[in-house]
Formats: sequence, structure tokens, C-alpha cells
Amino acid sequence: MDTRTLPTLPGIVTKLNSLADNEKTSIQEMARLVSSDQVLSARILRLANSPSYGFYRVATISNAMILLGVDVVKSLVLSSSIFEIMEQSALGLWEHSLGAGVAANIIAKRLSLPDCEEIATAALLHDIGKVIIRLKLQDEYDVLLAKTATSGCTLHELEREMIGTDHAEVGGWLGKNWFLPEKLVVPITFHHNVAGASCHQVKTAVVHLADVLIKASGFGFSGDPFVPALQPVAWNILGMNEPLLAEIVEELEEKLVDAKNFSLEIQSTDEAKT
Ligand SMILES: [Fe+2]
Ligand SMILES: [Fe+2]
Repeated sequence: MDTRTLPTLPGIVTKLNSLADNEKTSIQEMARLVSSDQVLSARILRLANSPSYGFYRVATISNAMILLGVDVVKSLVLSSSIFEIMEQSALGLWEHSLGAGVAANIIAKRLSLPDCEEIATAALLHDIGKVIIRLKLQDEYDVLLAKTATSGCTLHELEREMIGTDHAEVGGWLGKNWFLPEKLVVPITFHHNVAGASCHQVKTAVVHLADVLIKASGFGFSGDPFVPALQPVAWNILGMNEPLLAEIVEELEEKLVDAKNFSLEIQSTDEAKT
């Protein structure tokens, strides 16, 4: 796929990046820039308060920046633009992504990993490539999606076969194109092939496990009905064990009730707007 035809980075993210590159820029200045876009601010605050970030109850963009960090807010700006498309065109995928964010946050916290919020962001964005492929190859992708039900192959296997790339690779390309940090790009690119990640393996393993768990839970719809096997390499990297996994699954089941309510709330506010 020609990366030149990928959607361009929202202008505000470019501005935010150049502000963030300047050491003299204060958080308040960056917050002011984001706050100047009302719709975007509202979406970021909704995302920052979503179950995938553990319900922080942040009320302002500058608080979100202090609490979650500039990098997380930058990726929230991106996620919110992408999710705008996702919510409208593929509700199942939006819920799958939100659920994966929730799962990744639980796993990262249980393992006491640093950067829990960024891992949740990587999980939120892990299937972003599907949105892009769909935008670019609408009819072809619909045929492909219809085939997953009967082919017995996973979606990414079918993508490889039919379009010569897959959503993980496309998502990674997009991330690089948008100059997202490697700690987001690597887990997105390798969430179906943890062993392929040459760095950020722990984050990649968390996103992979989160994807498997959320598919197993039946929450949302990622495009195919199959629950992929958990890759042993991910299990080893995380030092996972059965009792810990059982605790994670139990917590996930509880949090998904909140996630469902959050998703319904967003849909109803979006409907009210239109
Ligand atoms: Fe995927
Ligand atoms: Fe997924």
C-alpha cells in the first residue's frame, strides 16, 4: 500500500508535536492549543475518563496532560480522530478496541509495569490498520470480511492472502508516518507476531494478550469470530501464570460492564448531536 495515500495527520497533532519538541513550551501552552478545539477537547476528556484509563475523572485538558502525560494526550488526540470514523462505521471494532485498552490497562497494572496509560493507548490503537484498509479498499475489504466467517482463517491471514499486507503492518506504517513514538508503533505492528518485535517486547506482549482476552470475552467485534491462541513467547515475556491470568480475566469481566456503559453513553451523546 502506498503510504502517500494514507490519511494525513490532523493539523492539531502536528502543531502539538512542534510545541512538545520545544523545551520552553509549558504544559499550559499545549493544553491551550488542544482546548481551542472544543469538539476535540470533549472527545479527549471522554477518552481520558474512559475505563481504559482507569476512570481518572479528569475535567480539564491541562489536568489530563499532567496526569496522563503529554505523550498520552497526543495519542488521545489521534485516537479521537480515528475513533470518530470508527464509531460511525464500525461500532464492533470501536468496542473491541476500547475493550483491548481496558484489558491492557488491567494487565499492565497487575504486572506493575511502567507506562500503563501508554500501553492502554497502544491497545486502543492496535487495530487502527483495519480502519485505514477499510477507508482505502471499502468494497474489497467487505468481501474479505464476509469470507472470514467461512474461510477458517483469521482476518490477518486473509488480509495477507488477498491484499498482500495486513492491518498490523498498515497500522504500523500509519503510526510511523504520523511520527508516533516507537512504544506505540511497535506493539501495533507486532500484536499478531510478538516474537517479531525487536524492542518494546513487554508492551507488545501486553497488547497481544489484551487482544486475545477481549476476543475470548466476546466483547465488541474485531472482524472475525476466531479467538487466536495466546503466543507462548508473550506468556514467557510477561512471566504469566494461570492464577494471575484468572485474576486478570475476573477483573476484566467486571470492568467490561463499565466499558459497555461508556460505549453506550458515547453513542447516545453522538446521536443527540446529529
Ligand atoms: Fe489485530
Ligand atoms: Fe484486535
